[in-house]
Amino acid sequence: MSAPRRLRCPWRHAAWAAVAVAAVTQAGVEDESFMPKGGRTLLLESLGQRPGVEEFRQIASASNTDAQWASVVAARAKPAADREKATLAAYLSVNMPLPSATLQALKAETLGAALPRDGRELAWNQCQFCHSLFASHLTQDRDVQGWRNMFLSPFHRELKMTPQEREEFARYSAINMPMKVEDVPPELRF
Ligand code: HEC
Repeated sequence: MSAPRRLRCPWRHAAWAAVAVAAVTQAGVEDESFMPKGGRTLLLESLGQRPGVEEFRQIASASNTDAQWASVVAARAKPAADREKATLAAYLSVNMPLPSATLQALKAETLGAALPRDGRELAWNQCQFCHSLFASHLTQDRDVQGWRNMFLSPFHRELKMTPQEREEFARYSAINMPMKVEDVPPELRF
């Protein structure tokens, strides 16, 4: 694991947080679609345009080991790229099976909404209040344990993220970060 990049961070103060959020909004980068896809998106893409509730339920009700999920994903045509396969397998490992109440209430039109947020969505929504996403996430090179350790610092322990969300975030980030600087919109490179 390489040494975590130092963040010299004046963002402790709410005023700075407001500046950081305002900068993101002004930059006009509206969503996280520039980042590598997360497991929720990859699963929905893999299921195709009109996923059947039964096929979805089969996946969403399984408890598999990491290795079993890797072979479930390997057997599917999509996603094709190795990194996306790894991202999807990690997402399924962390997030499946879905709670039984969710499984019982599944409807064809709202399958996407039944799925927990993936690492990409969590990063975009949870990591920009106090400092830039670029310095704290997009340029960080860490393994899964390195990302888990990040959550242990006093200022991160308080984050409103469940243990499951933290694990999803850690696994997504270990596979997909750091990004190449040129793939990050210039407005976010601060
Ligand atoms: C409530 C405010 C807050 C939020 C939200 C937050 N951080 Fe931080 N983060 C901090 C503070 C404060 C520091 C300390 C900066 C310093 O070194 O002075 C920091 C530092 C860091 C560092 C460098 C130090 C370390 O712990 O390794 C990383 C990496 C980091 N944050 C990642 C993240 C990620 C990823 C998220 C989203 C999951 C996140 N942060 C969300 C407050 C926050």
